[in-house]
Amino acid sequence: MERLLLLNGPNLNMLGKREPGIYGVTSLQDIERNLSKLTKTYNYQLDSFQSNHEGELIDKIQEADGSYQGIIFNPGAFTHTSVAIRDAISSITVPVIEVHISNVHKRESFRHTSLLAPVCKGQIVGLGPKGYQLAAIALLEE
Ligand code: DQA
Repeated sequence: MERLLLLNGPNLNMLGKREPGIYGVTSLQDIERNLSKLTKTYNYQLDSFQSNHEGELIDKIQEADGSYQGIIFNPGAFTHTSVAIRDAISSITVPVIEVHISNVHKRESFRHTSLLAPVCKGQIVGLGPKGYQLAAIALLEE
């Protein structure tokens, strides 16, 4: 069976409890469940991984090469800081779509820059948890 990988970075395990005015009340578990339902309708399996640790995310990205048809990735704050994650994405051939729940462009200026967007297939920003679904559809209907 073909597979997509859902990757979430630091603090996204706190979704639902974390700053609900910005990130809403949907938990990461709910996001994973809904996304898995969607990918099943396309006969794709969804694997999910969340980590607060940069190196663990890099390990997953490297391991994904050759095993997944696409990666849906919310890198959290590493978006704005991590050259190492950017290099990991550059080193694989699997397409990656960057997702942000909040509209980072409406927020602090340090969130306006993504070090990762230039090496991703695309980016979805500010559409809440639905952004994950839209990213999946873009990969599934490619
Ligand atoms: C985020 C935006 C980032 O700036 C922030 O550090 C996050 C969440 C989002 O989904 O809106 O942790 O990636």
